[in-house]
Amino acid sequence: MNIVLFGAPGAGKGTQSALLVEKCEMFHISTGDLFREAIKNESALGVKAKSFMDQGKLVPDDVVVGMVEEVFEKVGDKDFILDGFPRTAAQAEALESMLSRHSKKIDRAVFLSVPSDLLLKRLTGRRLCKECGAVYHIQTKKPQKEGVCDLCQSSSLYQREDDREEVISTRLQAYENSTAPLVKYYKDKGQYVEIDGVGPSEEVFAQVKSVLVE
Ligand code: AP5
Repeated sequence: MNIVLFGAPGAGKGTQSALLVEKCEMFHISTGDLFREAIKNESALGVKAKSFMDQGKLVPDDVVVGMVEEVFEKVGDKDFILDGFPRTAAQAEALESMLSRHSKKIDRAVFLSVPSDLLLKRLTGRRLCKECGAVYHIQTKKPQKEGVCDLCQSSSLYQREDDREEVISTRLQAYENSTAPLVKYYKDKGQYVEIDGVGPSEEVFAQVKSVLVE
């Protein structure tokens, strides 16, 4: 089953995607992760994306769509998760033509619902591993050894530049303006499923998994 996983910044898309990859072996396409990788590699794409991301603004549609098209070639026969894409009406339309060119379809658009006060706590407390991208939280998901990644043992946990409070408000605004309208888009297509994203990650995951049955 192929899914779009969407929701506000900090709703838990990356966390749930990691569980889906681990437990259901799905192919994960995260546009945020792809941009962060491009920034780390100092590629032309990374330079272009960085200026938008650091300000909490959306990267222009043509840049995002071009990047996803390249990655889409690698999906093969696996079920896939689109995490953070589409994020605008134009991206949703571009996705439709991409899917039809590859003879694929979206089965569910899974929306993670989380109230905004909780989003702020999740985002400001998030830490990531610079080496492998694993996600932690200073209160709800501490690494076993302080400052050290459980998965790759590197001691390079960091805070995302766009997880500063002043940037978060711009991100939330971009979400309200451009992404929240996709709820109606996917409802109209009959693919929309809403999940309560509050509660322990494993409990949220149980709900996500339950909607992935035919
Ligand atoms: P992106 O990386 O996609 O950021 P986002 O959508 O803002 O989402 P986040 O990664 O912040 O949150 P998440 O929902 O994945 O939450 P997570 O699981 O990490 O995009 C970044 C930027 O790239 C954008 O602002 C834009 O500039 C650009 N971009 C990307 N895609 C684009 C597109 N399509 N178009 C244009 N521009 C694009 O969880 C957050 C924290 O909460 C973690 O610490 C986690 O441990 C904790 N947590 C998660 N779940 C739970 C739980 N159930 N209980 C307690 N804590 C939890």
